[in-house]
Amino acid sequence: MTQPDANALSLLPTEMVEACDDFSSALSTCSTLDELNRLKGIYIGREGSFSSRLMDALKKAPKEQKRNLGAVVNGLKKTWEDAIKVRQSELETAKQHLDSAKNAWDATLPPPTPPTGALHPLNRLMDRLVDVFRPLGYHVEEGPEVETEEHNFDGLNIPEDHPARGTADTFYLAQHSELLLRTHTSPVQVRVLKRLAPELEKKGGIRFLAPGRVYRKDEIDPTHSPMFHQVEGMLVGKGIGMHHLKGTLAYAMKALFGPEADVRFRPSYFPFVEPGCEMDVHCPLCGGSGCRVCKGSGWVEILGAGLIHPNVLRIAGIDPEIWSGFAFGMGVERTAMMVSQTPDLRLFFENDQRFLQVMGGLD
Ligand code: DAH
Repeated sequence: MTQPDANALSLLPTEMVEACDDFSSALSTCSTLDELNRLKGIYIGREGSFSSRLMDALKKAPKEQKRNLGAVVNGLKKTWEDAIKVRQSELETAKQHLDSAKNAWDATLPPPTPPTGALHPLNRLMDRLVDVFRPLGYHVEEGPEVETEEHNFDGLNIPEDHPARGTADTFYLAQHSELLLRTHTSPVQVRVLKRLAPELEKKGGIRFLAPGRVYRKDEIDPTHSPMFHQVEGMLVGKGIGMHHLKGTLAYAMKALFGPEADVRFRPSYFPFVEPGCEMDVHCPLCGGSGCRVCKGSGWVEILGAGLIHPNVLRIAGIDPEIWSGFAFGMGVERTAMMVSQTPDLRLFFENDQRFLQVMGGLD
């Protein structure tokens, strides 16, 4: 606002000078049209307002001051009028927005539904596997993700010089070199066998599933991640053989992938089983005729398994002459990728809502 010249101002009563000074802040505190109208009355109304009193002061001023004071008075009036007009149109626009928002509200419409959360697709796949095995008498066991070498390697009959024990493959805890991030869910076998060994006869055996996170020093790429998931399974009983393992897993895969799902077993080596094998399922995408996912073979590898090595039972305090059993370990990401035709593992960890929503169809 233009500041009136000091000479001219000296002709005005002090309260007028103060009113000039206060105008800007008084205007900015007007937040409704009513408040603005009140201010308008005080400053530029017809009677008793500051501008009409300014006009009176002008009339009474000595002749030689009139010109000077007149310019000041007119300047002030114009400034006030313009500023009030601008504020008035701002407040009118705000009021219109408010009114139209009020009119748009229809109380008879159903309320907007907030987006609902859901379990992550990997957790849902693990839950489904648990649901398949639960009716077969398997319960869920958990183990710590920070493990000891004893559980992760020694108890599993993994030799001292096995490459997996090296710092190139395994995350060891810097402060406690005997502690590591478990490289598989198999150490849960060791913990459960040790815990249940004393009551094995009373219970008649052991059956459990252990889903969880595992860690390996892998670079992130479309098929690798330093953190991934496995589901471990184990059964201990008397007279357990490969036929039990094959029957159980063949049944579970049909329950998981549908009655058409075929499986095949290939001999393989894991230190904690003897004999050891890997199991393939008929590629869920092409049904076995060969495609990109199964690299033309019609089969995709899904888990490692075998009959529990006598040393593993012995270390846990279980007599392998009396007891036997099988174990398996399944890769969760690998299976989820296959079932959902997801070409890149990283999508499961990036939490892009669009991907997760599409994955709703994984069940
Ligand atoms: N622990 C193995 C891995 O991470 C998978 C595995 C193989 C688990 C054979 C088992 C098994 O229980 O019997 O590659």
